[in-house]
Amino acid sequence: MTGPDKLTIRRPDDWHVHLRDGVMLKSVVAYTSRQFARAIVMPNLSPPVTDSAAAAAYRERILAALPEGSDFAPLMTCYLTDNTDADDLATGHAQGIFTAAKLYPANATTNSAHGVTDVVRLYPVLERMAEIGMPLLVHGEVTSPEIDVFDREAVFIERVLAPLVQQIPSLKLVFEHITTAQAVAFVDEAGDNVAATITPQHLLINRNAIFAGGLRPHAYCLPVAKREQHRLALRKAATSGSAKYFLGTDTAPHARERKEMDCGCAGIFNAPYALESYATVFEEEGALDKLEAFASENGPRFYGLPLNEGSVTLERRKVDVPASIATEAAELVPFHAGETIGWRFVG
Ligand code: NCD
Ligand code: ZN
Repeated sequence: MTGPDKLTIRRPDDWHVHLRDGVMLKSVVAYTSRQFARAIVMPNLSPPVTDSAAAAAYRERILAALPEGSDFAPLMTCYLTDNTDADDLATGHAQGIFTAAKLYPANATTNSAHGVTDVVRLYPVLERMAEIGMPLLVHGEVTSPEIDVFDREAVFIERVLAPLVQQIPSLKLVFEHITTAQAVAFVDEAGDNVAATITPQHLLINRNAIFAGGLRPHAYCLPVAKREQHRLALRKAATSGSAKYFLGTDTAPHARERKEMDCGCAGIFNAPYALESYATVFEEEGALDKLEAFASENGPRFYGLPLNEGSVTLERRKVDVPASIATEAAELVPFHAGETIGWRFVG
């Protein structure tokens, strides 16, 4: 059975991106701004974006790096630390500088050395966020070395997330880039104030991809891909039509040589073919009619933002994805490198 040759949906947003800074920002931002009207920009620069002045300055650098004529809107986030100033956070939110705040457990991932050591210490800040309706975005992995890397998300739910949601039940919370059936069950069972983003890679690959015929650094991201049963649970959630799940690519570019080294960086650069990836999944699941809600409606509704005007179109066409993309900053290996995908983003 073949579906439609063209797919037109309301202009989508990406609720989780790493745009980096400097020449890398200039090299990658157009891939996101081409497909998406808005994006939640992660604050894990080095040093991280921990106050409203830094976020306002970073937003200006992003706007300056956009292609001429782009109306893309970066939505900024605050990197929470043990020392976050709740007044600055609330003021930044009221002024429209901060859309949300991001919780990285200390040392969970790239540039997270400044993250939060014990979430309980942050409860006063999180209570303030609940009062003002500011969403908390969570990187949901424990970092204890004794916990198996494939169990870190499930253990985080038990040890951190469930108690947090119980303690501050009105907090708007996005469980970012979920990778497990346990995360889907948690989000499904929680109230409407708890949602999740899902990346294209976690819908398309399981952990075998990291070891297919040898070590595959370009399939490595955090949280790491899990077993097949988890991928299937994520596909079901994303295509279910539930308003709790929305698009967040977690596009995370690193120079090719920084991934292909003795201690390679985590992150998959999926921005160049992001919508094509998601369309592939939704079509395989017989759910192309659910893509628009996932990509363009559920996110803004959760964040309390207007839906975008306008539309984008994908057409059914074989596209050969290059093995790598040369940019001013670095050679970048995109998700699907060397593969053929069945959709083309028209604009
Ligand atoms: C991200 C990065 O490189 O900034 N990497 C990743 O694998 N997703 C950090 C993150 O979001 O965990
Ligand atoms: Zn991320």
